[in-house]
Amino acid sequence: MPPRTKSSQSWLKEHFKDPYVKKSWADGYRSRAAYKLLEIQKKDRILKQGMKVVDLGAAPGSWAQIAANLIGKNGVLVGLDILPIEPMANATFIQGDFKDEAVYQQLTDLLKAEKVDVVLSDMAPNMSGNKDVDQYQAMYLIELAVDFSRQNLKVGGSLLMKVFSGVGFDDLIKQMRQEYEKVVIRKPDASRDRSREIYVLGLGFRG
Ligand SMILES: C[S@@+](CC[C@H](N)C(=O)[O-])C[C@H]1O[C@@H](n2cnc3c(N)ncnc32)[C@H](O)[C@@H]1O
Repeated sequence: MPPRTKSSQSWLKEHFKDPYVKKSWADGYRSRAAYKLLEIQKKDRILKQGMKVVDLGAAPGSWAQIAANLIGKNGVLVGLDILPIEPMANATFIQGDFKDEAVYQQLTDLLKAEKVDVVLSDMAPNMSGNKDVDQYQAMYLIELAVDFSRQNLKVGGSLLMKVFSGVGFDDLIKQMRQEYEKVVIRKPDASRDRSREIYVLGLGFRG
């Protein structure tokens, strides 16, 4: 195992002290990200029994745990990630890169041409440390998620996405306001203050 660098040591220290990390172990969630979706769900009630949901960037699967539970046995949940995801009841997972056309096709094939109620995207590219490159890569994934939603959401459906404030953000909001009845911005408590991540929720897809 390579030696731990100073920054990885401080990340580990912060991680193990984080109250949301401790809470996720106690509550049986696969990651602290669970509390971001739970807070948004509490406020905006986007997930309901029987819904058909796509979860982009789903690993390790805490959003999927919450979504699968809320949509119940009559719902359908398809998750996708570059990383493998431990199987869970009431969910189907695809391992692959969302940027890859064949993977995108695999996902749409699984949906059997049926439109979905909700698209969740917590995708985040690996950060290189170069702010411009990272923002460009994040915005590219966001645009793909917006486009996927345009093709696959039911009229009235919702898109919840992680985005990063910076270049392209204002244009994204402008574009979403044209496509959704309502667009709100959420920064859940579990999202670290120093992180530029915020969540954009488009409600009422106009089709
Ligand atoms: C913050 S994590 C998601 C956590 C997840 N919502 C949960 O609750 O467990 C972001 C995920 O996005 C995935 N990701 C990043 N780029 C991706 C891509 N191009 N295609 C698919 N997944 C991607 C990463 O592998 C990572 O697992």
